[in-house]
Amino acid sequence: MNGDNTSYGRVIGIGSYLPKDILTNDDMAKIVETSDEWITERTGIKERHISDPETDTSESMAIEAAKKAVADSGIDTKEIGLIIVASTTPNVLFPVLSASVQAAIDADNAMCFDMNAACPGFVTAFVTAQNYIKAGAVDCALVIGTENLTNYVNFEDRGTCILFGDGAGAVILKAEKDTKYDVIMHAAGKRGECMHCESYMQKGKEKTEEFLKSNYINMDGQTVFKFAVTEVPRVIEDLLKKTGTSADEIDYFILHQANRRIIESVAKRLKQPIEKFPMNIERTANTSSASIPILLDEMKKDGRIGEGKKHVIMSSFGAGLLWGAFETKI
Ligand code: UT7
Repeated sequence: MNGDNTSYGRVIGIGSYLPKDILTNDDMAKIVETSDEWITERTGIKERHISDPETDTSESMAIEAAKKAVADSGIDTKEIGLIIVASTTPNVLFPVLSASVQAAIDADNAMCFDMNAACPGFVTAFVTAQNYIKAGAVDCALVIGTENLTNYVNFEDRGTCILFGDGAGAVILKAEKDTKYDVIMHAAGKRGECMHCESYMQKGKEKTEEFLKSNYINMDGQTVFKFAVTEVPRVIEDLLKKTGTSADEIDYFILHQANRRIIESVAKRLKQPIEKFPMNIERTANTSSASIPILLDEMKKDGRIGEGKKHVIMSSFGAGLLWGAFETKI
């Protein structure tokens, strides 16, 4: 409860889509100089889903995830007043992906926009949708994270190409008066250079080898790692303080799936058992803004969440630098 008459969205439907093709660590070792042992030990990743160039785009994956979330919720798509698609890797700049989703699911009454907030894209879109609901502007929102990251990884850079996978996840939010919700979001643009991917389409840029490399995901892994293990537990502690909740009262800390060691470090810092930190990174790798909703879908399917009774914190971090966390019941 938020202690007043405010409505927030409760998650009433979840869906996800993962491409059928899988690239294992052993497959990766045939592409770059690496090994299953190194990747598993340093990241927790064993395999990742990889988009089929013939059939999978950020748009098509978003539509599949959205259809499943709608089916799971049982709503009529005409009830949806807002669709936000978070993606760092849209296959088209316009028409925006959210409008394509709207058309595909006949959500004719929805307003639509896309959002790029890198890996925290889903969290940022969820928070934005909550503000529309709180303001009374909409009653029902569809929030999607979709990524085709393997289009943007340099398969000659072993420090990054092993980390990422493709997929999409979606949730339906429906306004309810007694929904628990609170949030803290941060950005530090001055520290942003450690993750960088430049757009190919720039006037005046010669297509030199160096420029072409900058069109892939470039990352100083250790700096991002240190940022995550410092800021994620801090923002979660600040959120707990803000809401007057003890970490022990939280059933699950649902974190962006970037690296098992980052999640373990957050658990340790919060002095919470690792069992409260669900993970699927072993099978999905880092799917950026899709990672949390894909994990939510798995958790709903196996009964860990879905009845609005589990008290959770979701938190993500990534390029920008951006990070944040919100608390809700799901
Ligand atoms: O959504 C946010 C996205 N970003 C992240 O979450 C990234 C966060 N950072 C990380 O997850 C880790 O920093 C990495 C997994 C990227 C790298 O792990 P690390 O323990 O920080 O390794 P490192 O970069 O310090 O590299 C250690 C060694 C280096 O060799 P030398 O210089 O010690 O000889 C690397 O060249 O490991 C080497 N290395 C590899 N070896 C085998 C780097 N990548 C690989 C690889 N296989 N794939």
